[in-house]
Amino acid sequence: MSIPVPITVSDNRDSPRNPRGAVYIETYGCQMNFNDSEIVAAILKKHGWQITENPDRADVILLNTCAIREKAEERVKQRIRELQARFRRAHRQTLIGVLGCMAERMRKELIEQGYAEIVCGPDAYRSLPVLIDRAATGQEAVNVLLSREETYEDIEPVRLHSNGVSAFVSIIRGCNKMCTFCVVPFTRGRERSRPPESILREVRQLVAQGYREVVLLGQNVDSYRWVDNRTGQVVRFADLLGMVARLSPWLRVRFSTSHPRDMTEDVLAVMARYPNICKHIHLPVQSGSTRVLQRMRRGYTREWYLALIERIRQWLPDVAITTDIIAGFCGETEEDHEETLTLMEAVRFDQSFMFRYSERPRTYAQRYYRDDVPLEVKIRRLNEIIALQREHSLWRNQQEIGKIRRVLIEGTATRSANQWAGRTSQNKMVVFARDTRLHPGDYVDVEIVDCTSATLIGGRWRKVQDIQEPVHL
Ligand code: SAH
Ligand code: F3S
Repeated sequence: MSIPVPITVSDNRDSPRNPRGAVYIETYGCQMNFNDSEIVAAILKKHGWQITENPDRADVILLNTCAIREKAEERVKQRIRELQARFRRAHRQTLIGVLGCMAERMRKELIEQGYAEIVCGPDAYRSLPVLIDRAATGQEAVNVLLSREETYEDIEPVRLHSNGVSAFVSIIRGCNKMCTFCVVPFTRGRERSRPPESILREVRQLVAQGYREVVLLGQNVDSYRWVDNRTGQVVRFADLLGMVARLSPWLRVRFSTSHPRDMTEDVLAVMARYPNICKHIHLPVQSGSTRVLQRMRRGYTREWYLALIERIRQWLPDVAITTDIIAGFCGETEEDHEETLTLMEAVRFDQSFMFRYSERPRTYAQRYYRDDVPLEVKIRRLNEIIALQREHSLWRNQQEIGKIRRVLIEGTATRSANQWAGRTSQNKMVVFARDTRLHPGDYVDVEIVDCTSATLIGGRWRKVQDIQEPVHL
């Protein structure tokens, strides 16, 4: 165990007129991590640090890390070794700090193994300015205390990763689900919801700054629950969604991630009611075999998941559904794998994130199951899943051809400077010919004329003047 660092905030440290040096932040992993880095940037700026985009100019390098799979950790270690070699060659004294899930999982080991001078877990970011000072004077700088309350509700994130159109807003931290394969409950701690007032305040500010989209984030947004101590009033996820959606019809509202077990009918009803709540649900299934799902402790069966998909499509005929799938979990037979493929065929997901199982320390699966699917079998099964998903993604996108979709322009397409790129409500990327009359943040109704498995290609378009008008050209 590391020794907790006392959090002392002195007044002069709070002053932005007290520049201390430059910090470079690099982020790995999920959207939540990207948002956390924005919170970290806000905390450091408040304490006089500048944020730089150039690691060679930085006095401190912070890597906000992911521990979900072994490969994610390997990548970070590799990157740190690379940075260390670079600084040695340049004779620079740069402090390296590891934040996030790897910090929480490996703790002091990261310092002992020479990867970092600073180690700071996801609930300890307020102590980061103190930790940096301690490391700078050669003292131990580790804080991996998890909290039951911390939501950083009062911190206004510095938008590092934003295109000025869309912003992440965290609404709930941690996870209580304890899926047997997953390290998140150990690295991000217990579930806790952020007060609705602070969420609404942040979103209102974003709207005032011209943002047109918010993505409400949590490991499991559907278990959002806030009880007002004075009135006893309960705000659940469906209530919160409605509150955010009502702030402005010009604001698109997205959310991620939903757990099939917690997704309730009232969330679907709210989604159906508000046109500005995007018609996209990310609903990780993990496996199509009930036996495997039970070993994963996901709390649902194959049939239950398929019935949920039915209900979702009844409420929201136009919805896009995406998922996460794990290939080769402990004890997965060829038959189980076939069931994953047939479930995919039944649902035809719009997109999936697909992984091969990676054993993680401290999880139930690591302690009680054998990681018994040989690597080459995992890889083969994963490849079959990926190939099938590609067919489905293409097929889903082909269904869009000929439709007119409302697109929120995010910026220039990555592949071509002559094209605008934006998303439909279903979270599908659309590219179409650039026109100087349009700008990022504009809504346009675009006719879909072609597609690949990843992108829709738009043709004729018309700028939306009044957001309430129906989609048309
Ligand atoms: N509820 C979370 C899930 C976090 S992890 C969210 O907000 O997205 C993201 C995905 O990683 C999981 O859904 C799962 O498919 C995958 N994953 C988690 N642990 C894994 C492991 N040990 N090996 C392989 N994939 C894993
Ligand atoms: Fe992990 Fe399951 Fe929570 S996948 S983040 S323990 S819902």
